Formats: sequence, structure tokens, C-alpha cells
Amino acid sequence: MPTASLTLDPRFAVGAINRRVFGSFVEHLGRCVYNGIYEPGHPNADADGFREDVLELVRELGISTVRYPGGNFVSGYRWEDGVGPKEQRPRRLDLAWHSVETNEFGLDEFAKWSAKAGTEMMYAVNLGTRGVLEAVDVLEYTNVRSGSTLSDARVANGAPEPYGIKMWCLGNEMDGPWQLGHMSADDYGKLASRTAKGMRQLDPDLELVACGSSSASMPTFGAWERTVLEHAYDDVDYISCHAYYEERDGDLDSFLASAVNMDHFIETVVATADHVKALKRSDKTINISFDEWNVWYIERYHSVDKITKIEEWPYAPRLLEDVYSVADAVVFGSLMISLLKHADRVTSASLAQLVNVIAPIMTEPGGPAWRQATFFPFAVTSELAKGTALEVRLESDTYVTQQYGEVPIVDAVGTHDAESGRAAVFLVNRSRESETTVTIDVRALGLSSASARSLWDEDVYAKNTLEQQDRVQLRANDSVSLDGGSLTVTLPPVSWTAIELS
Ligand code: AHR
Repeated sequence: MPTASLTLDPRFAVGAINRRVFGSFVEHLGRCVYNGIYEPGHPNADADGFREDVLELVRELGISTVRYPGGNFVSGYRWEDGVGPKEQRPRRLDLAWHSVETNEFGLDEFAKWSAKAGTEMMYAVNLGTRGVLEAVDVLEYTNVRSGSTLSDARVANGAPEPYGIKMWCLGNEMDGPWQLGHMSADDYGKLASRTAKGMRQLDPDLELVACGSSSASMPTFGAWERTVLEHAYDDVDYISCHAYYEERDGDLDSFLASAVNMDHFIETVVATADHVKALKRSDKTINISFDEWNVWYIERYHSVDKITKIEEWPYAPRLLEDVYSVADAVVFGSLMISLLKHADRVTSASLAQLVNVIAPIMTEPGGPAWRQATFFPFAVTSELAKGTALEVRLESDTYVTQQYGEVPIVDAVGTHDAESGRAAVFLVNRSRESETTVTIDVRALGLSSASARSLWDEDVYAKNTLEQQDRVQLRANDSVSLDGGSLTVTLPPVSWTAIELS
């Protein structure tokens, strides 16, 4: 049986865990908004048309921040289309997803929905086909109290208080040739810098995110970040990372080690940002907003032909509705471990996306809402990971993968909340064949009780579906035992585990 050992000690602090790491993402894409969070006429819809069953699951998930309105969608979006009387809002063609956008749901609905969900708004401006003026306009609409045309329009639309949105994304994936208005790093860096300066003239306290690479496998990766930051370093606070993982050609071993790639991605972007910091002789540090991450079977999406006849573009089609397995959820949990391992520099992150579209929550129009397998690692990590992230001095047996070479069988991160005295450990066992026994030295914490929950199944491809909504659930892991300062736990094959210590 493979083994691993680790140490939980508050002296090995990585950094404070920013709650924004538990963010998510709502895009006008498929059924994320329409027939997802918003479905007037549904038996569970409230007076605003928001599904209360979905709102309840969003709260249970422990979401902090929600990025909106895209994604690729934002690069063709006019924010003004989504405010004012609904019957006057235009029907538009969404070039990113070949869909019809009715604009029944827009910025004011998003603000109302966020207040009900208890989440912070994070707003992306369109820098693909628009520029500084439109970015400043939407900021005036959201953040100025009153006394100007756009702030007064918000008040007239029923929102007397400004929304006070702090986090703003300067466009989306501008390095991607698929992006409407795709541009070079030089062009984007200059535009991001000008836009940021303009927005700060209106509101100096904003936190601004420049687009990094759409994935670490982009041909421009590394050079893109360097060039963009050379132009915009002084103007922004974050550089974004986006990453999606999927099992390819039945290579589960490599897929289970996806977080190795995420670790490398983060560390490379940190190194690049710090290189520009050195070049600029700057005292300021740029952090990472990992504002799109998930498991996504993107090859499956690309294998389906897009609807090309414009007259046939649908409203709220079923797009990117991946159904997640236990193996997917284990990888997903390990990606959260990777984010926490870099808590000093990853201070914002958004799980892409929230409902129906590569999402932890699924719904049926007129029907139920349920939890996908990925719901559980997110909800438990958000619940338990408080205070400071701890490096755990991990020693683990290894296995060999086609994609990443030799990797540790176990990955883990610790957290410690000095205020409550509580701690947690999150672990993943990547072995397909064996249980793994883990020994944890907790002497430094003087804790007296431990309980563990694991996500695993005899069938690693088991899923929750409309027909079987509770097939996959968390299970108590009774193998955990605490003897003095030593804790042991047995991790089932292909599993994700959270240990709660108090
Ligand atoms: O999350 C789905 C899509 O993935 C987003 O619209 C885009 O930003 C990324 O390529």
C-alpha cells in the first residue's frame, strides 16, 4: 500500500486565504442565466424570476464572488442592452455562442440576484469590440451615487444605492484567436492600461484584472503576460489565468495529475509578473485572479457542429452541459488544493461556471435543481478552508504518468484559523489501484478531535443525473484516528478527502 506523510504547523504559512478564491462565474451562455438562475414561471421562481432552489444551492456551495457577464460573450456585449424596461430591450445575436440574447436579464437583475445569493459582484467590461468610454460608462452606472445621466438612469431603474463593484476584468481572453476583437499583447496591454487609467479617474479604489493567457498551452503563453504587464503593470492589480482539464484518450492517470499542470501554470505566471516587477523597479506586487478553472470536456464541445444558419440560432440552448463523474470531482478537488497551495499569490478565483454550463449545479426547466459530483469538494473546501493556508512538507510515494512524468500519489494542503483554533487538511489520492495511508504530524497544533469526509466510489465514473440526483455523495471516512500528535487516515483509490480538526 502506498504511503505519504505530512506536517501541519502554523509556522509553515503560505499566506492568508482570500475568500475571493471561492468565486464562481455566470456567463450569458447556454442555460447558465436563462433557465438556470433565472426562470420566471418556474414553481420555485421568486417575484424577480430567480429560482429559489438554485439560490439555496448557491448559498450551500459557499460562493464568495461571481464574475459576470462573460466569458467570450462579453466581447460582443453592449451593457446598456440589459438595463431599463424589459419590453424595450433589444434581441441580439450572440456571436460567441451562436445564440439569441433577449437581454431580459442584465446588470440590474445580476445586482439583485447577487444580493439574494449573498455574493460579491465581479464585472467584466468589453474590450474586444468596445473601449475606454464604454468601460467608464458602465462604471458610472454602477458606482456613482447619482447626479449624472448614467447614475440617475440606475436610480430610475430601481436601484437608488450604487452597486459599488470593486473587482473588474479588463476584457476576456484577448490572447485567443476565437475572441471577438482578438488582439496582440502589445495592443491589448496598451488598451488595458488606458482603460484602467480611465476607470480609476472615476473610482480610484477599484481592483482591476488584466487578461493573462487563456491556457498555459497557448503559443503566446509567458510572452503575453510579460508584454501586457510591461504596458499595464502600474495600472492593474491582477493578471488572470484560465485553465480547463479533461480526461483524454482514456488516460486517467495523467488526468488525475492535472493539478501538477495548474501548480506549474501559477508558478510560471508569478515568476513572469515578478520579472516585470524587477524590470520596473516596482514595490507593487501583481497577484493572480484565476478567474476560469474547472474540468471541461472541451474536445466534446468542439466535436459538435455549431449552428451556422443565423435564423436558427437558439435561445438558451443546452451548451457545455458536462455531467461530472467521481474522477472529475477528485481532479476538481485537487485543483482547489492547488489554488490554496498558492494562497499568497492566487487571491481571487472563479469556478467556471455556476449553473448548467460546466457547472456544479444543474437544473431542468420547470423541474428540479441538483448537485453535480463537483459540488461537494467546492462546498466543503469553502466551508473549512479559513484563515491561513499551510504548506504541509509532503512526502509521498509516486507514480508515472504519460503527460507529467513522475508525480506524487498524494497531494495535500493544510489550513489553520488562528481565531477559532480550527484546522483542516485537504487531500487527494491519485492511485487507481490502491488505498493510501497518510500520517500527519499535528503536534504543533495541540488538537483533540478529527473527522474526515471523502468523495470516492467503486465506480469512478459514477455521476449524478436528473434520474439519479444523489448517486454520488460525500461519505464519512471512519479510518481517521488521532493519537497524541499523530493523525492517520486511509484514502480510498481515486478519492478526495477533507479532514476537519478542532
Ligand atoms: O467558460 C466557458 C468559456 O471558456 C468562456 O466563455 C471563455 O472565456 C473560455 O474560453
